[in-house]
Amino acid sequence: MSHLLEIKNLSVAFPTHDGLVRAVSDVNLTLDRGELVAIVGESGSGKTVTSLSVMSLHNRRTAQITGQILVQTPDGVVDVVSAEEPIVRALRGKTVAMIFQDPMSSLHPYYTISKQLTEAFRIHNKVSKKVANARAIEMLDLVGIPEPDKRAKEYPHQFSGGMRQRVMIAMALINNPDIVIADEPTTALDVTVQAQILELLRKLQKEFDMGILLITHDLGVVAGIADRVNVMYAGQVVESGVVDDIYYRPLAPYTMALLASIPSVAAKGAGQLSAIPGQPPSMISLPKGCSFQPRCALAHLVPNHLCERVMPELTEDEPRHLARCHLELSARTHAAAEARANRIVGGQA
Ligand SMILES: Nc1ncnc2c1ncn2[C@@H]1O[C@H](COP(=O)(O)OP(=O)(O)O)[C@@H](O)[C@H]1O
Ligand code: SF4
Ligand SMILES: [Mg+2]
Repeated sequence: MSHLLEIKNLSVAFPTHDGLVRAVSDVNLTLDRGELVAIVGESGSGKTVTSLSVMSLHNRRTAQITGQILVQTPDGVVDVVSAEEPIVRALRGKTVAMIFQDPMSSLHPYYTISKQLTEAFRIHNKVSKKVANARAIEMLDLVGIPEPDKRAKEYPHQFSGGMRQRVMIAMALINNPDIVIADEPTTALDVTVQAQILELLRKLQKEFDMGILLITHDLGVVAGIADRVNVMYAGQVVESGVVDDIYYRPLAPYTMALLASIPSVAAKGAGQLSAIPGQPPSMISLPKGCSFQPRCALAHLVPNHLCERVMPELTEDEPRHLARCHLELSARTHAAAEARANRIVGGQA
């Protein structure tokens, strides 16, 4: 059976006055029904550019997009990269829906919640306003908004941040999509509300057997919720695997550094929480070898300055666990085990 979503060799570049921004380079990933797959990486690593590509929301005349984005639809598989605009429009919001970080930028301030939800439903369904309104209220109830028939008549500013994000989830799910892309859906929310929204997403995902692509800069967020994780750095996937492997047996030095920088995972005690030193590279002039080399604490273990000269390939180092690194596998597993032991000594495995 083919995947709900399969991204194959996706590269996206934007010509600018300063040069070509290579935002995404040769990304491969899959999403199946009932799965929650995360994309994690620091700001600027190409996560949003990847997700907007799946919705075909880049300017098609200026963005340079290569590769394939194969989406399973009721009428067969569509390659979003090469399909005509009407075909893409038909699947946008229906087969694939998106939840953005900031609901205020996607909700219209002058229209009631009910109007916005019913319109989203009626784009893809030829039904009366009354039927669509009933569906809108049903969806608000589903996402845990109390008194949904009353609240539907209100405007976005009358909702709290967390409640607005619930409205966005209702809007994304109103057409019963197979694939939902959630791009930093909780970044703007405080920690308690964050957890509630993630729990809601997971619950709905199971209930409707959807595939969710969850995008976040926070590796801590995906621990209890993702099935598989893709770690991105400088436009590339540097590690990919099931969530426990990523947390307990990371194989890419970048993932190890990310783990060490999560407050809830890193060791207790002043000074032990290490932000990754240095900055991600410019996407216009990437380093010649491994993109992470200027910041990598393990590069010195690789002989002949290979990290500075040659970009490592993404390889299946262990079953279903891929990483992009020149360093011998045993040296990496050793480094990961040491880092983990330090965390346990610190009292927070
Ligand atoms: N339309 C665009 N034109 C030029 N550069 C862009 C454009 N969109 C994104 N970028 C650049 O691509 C890189 C990846 O961005 P993005 O995918 O938004 O990162 P993030 O992982 O934080 O979501 C960044 O360097 C960003 O500045
Ligand atoms: S290839 Fe070298 S620089 Fe890149 S992550 Fe591995 S050890 Fe570090
Ligand atoms: Mg982003």
